[in-house]
Amino acid sequence: MTVLLELVDVDVAIGPATILRGIQLQVQREDRVALIGANGSGKSTLLRTLHGLLKPVRGLQSTAFGARQAMVFQRPFLLRTTVARNLALGLRLAGVPPHEIAARVPDALARVGLADIGERHARHLSVGQQQRVAFARAWALRPDLLFLDEPTASLDPPAKREIESLMATFAEAGTTMVFASHNLGQVKRLATRVVYLERGRLLADLPVAAFFDHDRLREVSREADLFLQGEMA
Ligand SMILES: Nc1ncnc2c1ncn2[C@@H]1O[C@H](COP(=O)(O)OP(=O)(O)OP(=O)(O)O)[C@@H](O)[C@H]1O
Ligand SMILES: [Mg+2]
Repeated sequence: MTVLLELVDVDVAIGPATILRGIQLQVQREDRVALIGANGSGKSTLLRTLHGLLKPVRGLQSTAFGARQAMVFQRPFLLRTTVARNLALGLRLAGVPPHEIAARVPDALARVGLADIGERHARHLSVGQQQRVAFARAWALRPDLLFLDEPTASLDPPAKREIESLMATFAEAGTTMVFASHNLGQVKRLATRVVYLERGRLLADLPVAAFFDHDRLREVSREADLFLQGEMA
């Protein structure tokens, strides 16, 4: 197995507050890791750390040499320009040469079912379409690692289904993913592994079947088991 990403005993602080403590996490190629935990438990902070937007104040973080990564946020943030330019600018920032950009933009838009709207202004799309554009922008980078922070949280059920099916497509293409979710159905459908956070600590890290097996989860973490029971009640 290829390790793409590793955190060893990592603490992360925002200003004076230590938000994550003693995090140990290894992500292997083709893992699909769901991050779950209550509001404020540290899921977004962990994702931002994994993506390099926050630096650990203690411990070691390493990413496999040459691994490309992208992140999709809960609310799509797009630039105030056309859909196609949103994708093209992302690629230019990543150092992709112009002829390659010209080929990748339509390919990525087709991949998310938006082949016809490249020239539309991104701000004039529905939130569901905007999130698909954010996925296309991530896809166009051909990431080895894709981080997703509650990518369906602000969407209605049909848009949610579309995004889930995109995540499944990315998974089939071999993209390694780490995603935060409050939706246990989604976790069961998409994750291979579940990581449970509570107040900035990582209390359980199990294959998805073991996580949803009450007896096994309780052996690993009583807190995680209580959380899960609460969520399923
Ligand atoms: N910019 C910030 N400044 C100060 N504290 C912050 C900041 N961002 C997050 N925190 C704190 O860090 C902790 C973890 O927050 P985080 O957003 O990572 O949790 P989360 O698990 O993603 O929650 P949610 O389910 O609500 O998205 C919380 O206590 C939060 O108040
Ligand atoms: Mg969050």
